[in-house]
Amino acid sequence: MRMVDLIAKKRDGKELTTEEINFIIDGYTKGDIPDYQVSALAMAIYFQDMNERERADLTMAMVHSGDTIDLSAIQGIKVDKHSTGGVGDTTTLVLAPLVAALDIPVAKMSGRGLGHTGGTIDKLEAIQGFHVEISKDEFVSLVNEHKIAVIGQTGNLTPADKKLYALRDVTATVNSITLIASSIMSKKIAAGSDAIVLDVKTGAGAFMKTAEDAKELAHAMVSIGNNVGRKTMAVISDMSQPLGSAIGNSLEVKEAIDTLRGHGPKDLEELCLALGRQMVYLAGKAASLEEAEEKLKEVIHNGKALEKFKEFIANQGGDSSVVDNPDNLPKAAYIIEVPAREEGVVAEIVADEIGTAAMLLGAGRATKESEIDLAVGLMLNKKIGDKVKAGESLVTIHANRENVDDVIAKIYANIRIGSHAEAPVLIHDIVTE
Ligand code: URA
Ligand code: CA
Repeated sequence: MRMVDLIAKKRDGKELTTEEINFIIDGYTKGDIPDYQVSALAMAIYFQDMNERERADLTMAMVHSGDTIDLSAIQGIKVDKHSTGGVGDTTTLVLAPLVAALDIPVAKMSGRGLGHTGGTIDKLEAIQGFHVEISKDEFVSLVNEHKIAVIGQTGNLTPADKKLYALRDVTATVNSITLIASSIMSKKIAAGSDAIVLDVKTGAGAFMKTAEDAKELAHAMVSIGNNVGRKTMAVISDMSQPLGSAIGNSLEVKEAIDTLRGHGPKDLEELCLALGRQMVYLAGKAASLEEAEEKLKEVIHNGKALEKFKEFIANQGGDSSVVDNPDNLPKAAYIIEVPAREEGVVAEIVADEIGTAAMLLGAGRATKESEIDLAVGLMLNKKIGDKVKAGESLVTIHANRENVDDVIAKIYANIRIGSHAEAPVLIHDIVTE
């Protein structure tokens, strides 16, 4: 087989066989096929696309390019959730204990990563003593006994995707539904769960700016998952404004606790139920999505979800008293209100820019080496569609520096007050097959 012939084949709009796709990904991972040939192929895929069978093959070839996680020692159907990324997304912190309270195994492997706030692990480390440096055996036995554990990322997962993603970044081929869907799904499949629930974000703060693109991506990923034997469903959710109120690590832990108590922000609660019901259904714990949602509401109301969160924190060395006393979480030295300068209705809150404002305070990492300040962040006191009077607080800044003029300027530049606006629709669509 010669790579040049395979590039020509895809350039001319023909289908690549399973064997050919394996040859390409294997050769690329080993370094036998150079970047310039794979660049040309990526561009051919960008224009000619791939059918469902090719997409599934590409995904599995990337899965097999490196280590895969074996969760077979964990009893039950393991369901993982993945979000395509947004601002102030506290759903994982809520969903993990929420579904575990229904006896669904949550075996979460999580990274740190870059972003406006830390990843799930950073957020959990806002809790004194909590640690994810546990052994694989301890991880498995915690999940078997308590249905929930989080471990830091180990192993060399999907090296082919790492190389290809970096190459796409510099060859204008990131924005292909086929390449994005196979990239995301390869990582989820290598992580070992039996079923996958996807939260595909759309709007200013998201990778997919329009609901149509987000829907196409969701369908592509659901189809890949189902074609390779991992039951997959998706929710398409709005990310034109940040989710919930809190953006920042300890602030989001508190927000998750409020939500598990049934007193969280409405949008966060709605999205957690939409994603959670798919997880419960795919785990085989309910006969319909409606029944699944009832079960989730029950463990919120009877306090089992909150108890599960306490148990989870204590199991991994954390101070579980924060659940009853969120004041025990790290606190910022300065609390600064950002008042509305005029009366009206909040018409726009640009999600990614507000996320960047939180990052300026130190809530997230700009580079891999940056240190996160777990105490700092923003609380949105108003969301799109809310009325506001002049002088009323739009945002509360939690900072560990006295001068936050740069953050205040960024907030004013990205929250627009108009004469009328309605709260955006949160759930654009659900994809179940
Ligand atoms: N996120 C990924 O992991 N891969 C892509 O290709 C795009 C976004
Ligand atoms: Ca939030």
